[in-house]
Amino acid sequence: MTAVIEATDLARHYLVSRGPFSKPAELKALAQASFAVGEGETLAIVGESGCGKSTLARLVTMIEPPTAGHLTIDGIDVLTASGSARKKLRRAVQIVFQDPVGSLNPRQKIGKALEEPLVINTDMSAAERREKAEKMLAQVGLRPEHYGRYPHMFSGGQRQRIAVARALMLEPKIIVLDEPVSALDVSIQAQILNLLYDLQQEFRLTYLFISHDLSVVKHVADGVMVMYLGRAVEKGSVDAIFSNPRHPYTRALLSATPIADPTLARDRIQLEGELPSPIDPPPGCAFHPRCPYANQRCREEVPEVLADGETLVACHGVAEGRI
Ligand SMILES: Nc1ncnc2c1ncn2[C@@H]1O[C@H](COP(=O)(O)OP(=O)(O)OP(=O)(O)O)[C@@H](O)[C@H]1O
Ligand code: SF4
Ligand SMILES: [Mg+2]
Repeated sequence: MTAVIEATDLARHYLVSRGPFSKPAELKALAQASFAVGEGETLAIVGESGCGKSTLARLVTMIEPPTAGHLTIDGIDVLTASGSARKKLRRAVQIVFQDPVGSLNPRQKIGKALEEPLVINTDMSAAERREKAEKMLAQVGLRPEHYGRYPHMFSGGQRQRIAVARALMLEPKIIVLDEPVSALDVSIQAQILNLLYDLQQEFRLTYLFISHDLSVVKHVADGVMVMYLGRAVEKGSVDAIFSNPRHPYTRALLSATPIADPTLARDRIQLEGELPSPIDPPPGCAFHPRCPYANQRCREEVPEVLADGETLVACHGVAEGRI
């Protein structure tokens, strides 16, 4: 597998104010994550709200630099890349957000929104840009006459198609999809997922597919990385994660998901309690206050990511053979 994205111990911290009389606190939005995504593959990043998924998306799209760790995209080290290499990489990695309304200017015609990346990054003529925008509209299942219309004239699903078309304008290699279907009705979700699949096949795209919902990623991902409070806690192929989840948190997420496999039902773990604050995470395994298998070691020692059969898991209980 040629890795198009390779992340090692990637981290992003923020300093957040705790009020006028306290020192700012360090918030580890992304504490530690390592992963690789092969060309043409989809890695799903899954976890509850606030676990660091969008922070990871901002690092991979180079909107923000990592605080620590290494990130290589298309063979280029993002931190040490030259100005021209970074410019090239910025074109190669595009992002689609959850909310297509917020990402489109209401006063700008769709065609102009699609052409904007070409105006900034290429010296194509106006006619060439228009031709490309119309071609891309067709590619995502819209019509050339949509070129002159405004965002409010489209449904949520159509707006997400426009956002996908815009991301494709610079012919990227990688698309980060940050909750691309979460705001859509279930019936529309399937259409967008199918469109993303077809585009991936046609253009050999590599996807980082972010979702808080495991059931959404089941049919689109090759691999899954489960995150909890800024850390990757389990990583494996989609088959391994769905048929034999190892980490108690992954099992809890699956228990909350309607699943077809009744053999998994006996291992159900109910997710109780709130997600702790990343400003003051629990010591040891951050999942321990919510984990039915927690012991003293779990409360004190951060578990390492270790191989367990086909998956990588950060859990003392799994390493000790008690889970
Ligand atoms: N710029 C920032 N400054 C301070 N804290 C931040 C910043 N960005 C994110 N955070 C915090 O980092 C943590 C992770 O946020 P992030 O948006 O990456 O989570 P997420 O998994 O994408 O959540 P959601 O599912 O709600 O989109 C949260 O506690 C968030 O409040
Ligand atoms: S390390 Fe301990 S607390 Fe954390 S998930 Fe594993 S068993 Fe539960
Ligand atoms: Mg997010």
